Amino acid sequence: MFSEIIQTELKKQLIRELESSQLYLSMASWAEYKGFDGICEFLYDHSNEERKHMLKLIRYINKRGGYAVFPNQSSSLFFKEFSLRSSLKELFQKLLEQEKEISKEINKLVELSLQEKDYFTYNFLQWYIEEQIEEEALSKMIFNQIELIGDEKVGLYLFNRDIRKNYVTNMK
Ligand code: FEO
Repeated sequence: MFSEIIQTELKKQLIRELESSQLYLSMASWAEYKGFDGICEFLYDHSNEERKHMLKLIRYINKRGGYAVFPNQSSSLFFKEFSLRSSLKELFQKLLEQEKEISKEINKLVELSLQEKDYFTYNFLQWYIEEQIEEEALSKMIFNQIELIGDEKVGLYLFNRDIRKNYVTNMK
């Protein structure tokens, strides 16, 4: 059975995925403006991935007989604190925090699906668990690299070059 409570919580999750997508989009724009051509590709790509996560939820809710309606969106979704004075370290720290937050919410959803005995949803969420394991590990690794590099210009140059080569999946 596809309960109201499961539907409501899945709808909240699709909004979180949308928020992640918007957040990474604003970060990508910042990185592009700052001249980090590799980092911005990684972030644009990551933003697209989050949009796909959102779509997957919409399609699942509708397939189960629910209706994936959206609340009125406002500009509050945008990452206002991310100013031009921000640093790459702040950017990747925020990205890591965001991924940890999403993992926490996915865990709660899995728990709820078991409480509700909704094994279809439990099964559906396994994909998100795998995805979060990967994304959290990648975000942590990138943040550690940035911390190690600090303000060292050659290190930043190489990082910007390599991130595109190693992690961007959907090149233009
Ligand atoms: Fe879809 Fe990275 O959370």
